[in-house]
Amino acid sequence: MAVLVTGGAGYIGSHACVALIQSGHNIVVLDNLSNSCRASLEQVSEITGVKFPVVIDDVNDRAALDRLFTAYQIDAVMHFAGMKAVGESCELPLTYYRNNVAGTLTLCEAMKDYGVRTLIFSSSATVYGEPLSNPITEDFPVHATNPYGQSKVMVEQVLHDLVQADALAAVPFWNIAILRYFNPVGAHASGKIGEDPLGIPNNLLPFISLVAVGKLKELSVFGGSYPTPDGTGVRDYIHVMDLAEGHVKALDKLTDEKTSSGCHTWNLGTGNGYSVLEMVSAFEAASGRPIPYKIVDCRPGDIAECWADPSKAESELGWKATRGLMEMMEDTWRWQSQNPNGFSK
Ligand SMILES: NC(=O)c1ccc[n+]([C@@H]2O[C@H](COP(=O)([O-])OP(=O)(O)OC[C@H]3O[C@@H](n4cnc5c(N)ncnc54)[C@H](O)[C@@H]3O)[C@@H](O)[C@H]2O)c1
Repeated sequence: MAVLVTGGAGYIGSHACVALIQSGHNIVVLDNLSNSCRASLEQVSEITGVKFPVVIDDVNDRAALDRLFTAYQIDAVMHFAGMKAVGESCELPLTYYRNNVAGTLTLCEAMKDYGVRTLIFSSSATVYGEPLSNPITEDFPVHATNPYGQSKVMVEQVLHDLVQADALAAVPFWNIAILRYFNPVGAHASGKIGEDPLGIPNNLLPFISLVAVGKLKELSVFGGSYPTPDGTGVRDYIHVMDLAEGHVKALDKLTDEKTSSGCHTWNLGTGNGYSVLEMVSAFEAASGRPIPYKIVDCRPGDIAECWADPSKAESELGWKATRGLMEMMEDTWRWQSQNPNGFSK
């Protein structure tokens, strides 16, 4: 199976490339390097011992997609390419809708024209907004609270509409998985790839890691009076390699049922919630470094707590996260301590 990995140079995409190669798939990566660099892909080759084609282009560029689908026989697409910073999306909604929504439309148009029917889309637990209760199942209502989340809701709607339209066609075309990630953390156990954000990180673990290596003075904990056991926000953190393996399982499932079609949605989470302060203590234990922090105002739109019910993925995909909190922390620390400057050595 040849899989096009859009956004394959990024954090989750690069780990998915490793999981795909190690489960015997061929890959082609498409990335515009707007939030990543080629070095991550060189490291993927180093880890796997496999070289693969890398196309530096944009998913919004239809001519580039035509060239790619003409040059390579693609069987399925994993679509990671997109922008992901909630705060930035509130400042630049047009940029986010262009990149995340229009980019996906362009990709789907090209897939249709080249007869590529299998798509795995990176969605997010952010589509659930503030859930009425926890754990969250896939049938909870979706109502995003910011343009980033809204872009995921919109793409999900488009993908459902494609499958809806298939019901009217003589032969249904689309075979789609929507994967709603909870909070990806950690790094490949080799320490060769990991999360390497540009500028001040938006996510908790990269922020903690940069405090640990002395690049940032202290961690700002957004909100200390949520209705949670220690007052800080609670999230479902999932190891990025578990997440990557979930993608391979979803691909197996879609391609197992070659004759079928449709749009399936699966939560990828662990089912456990940890508070910010629990994450800080776990990281201190794994790294042996103190993480000074201060509690500051909560961010508008942030929710108190959320964690997944991952049982649908377990029963339908045979997938379950296996890596625990300490493994997430140790792998993050190995990546950060071996690469204090990320991929720019
Ligand atoms: N990291 C998270 O916490 C998280 C949570 C839920 C969902 N997601 C989604 O997962 C996907 C991957 O996230 P990530 O954390 O790996 O982000 P990332 O920024 O590390 O990776 C995204 C990659 O896509 C590339 N890219 C962006 N726009 C592109 C375009 N128009 N054409 C080609 N390449 C483009 C970037 O250069 C980058 O390499 C995103 O769609 C994101 O919204 C991420």
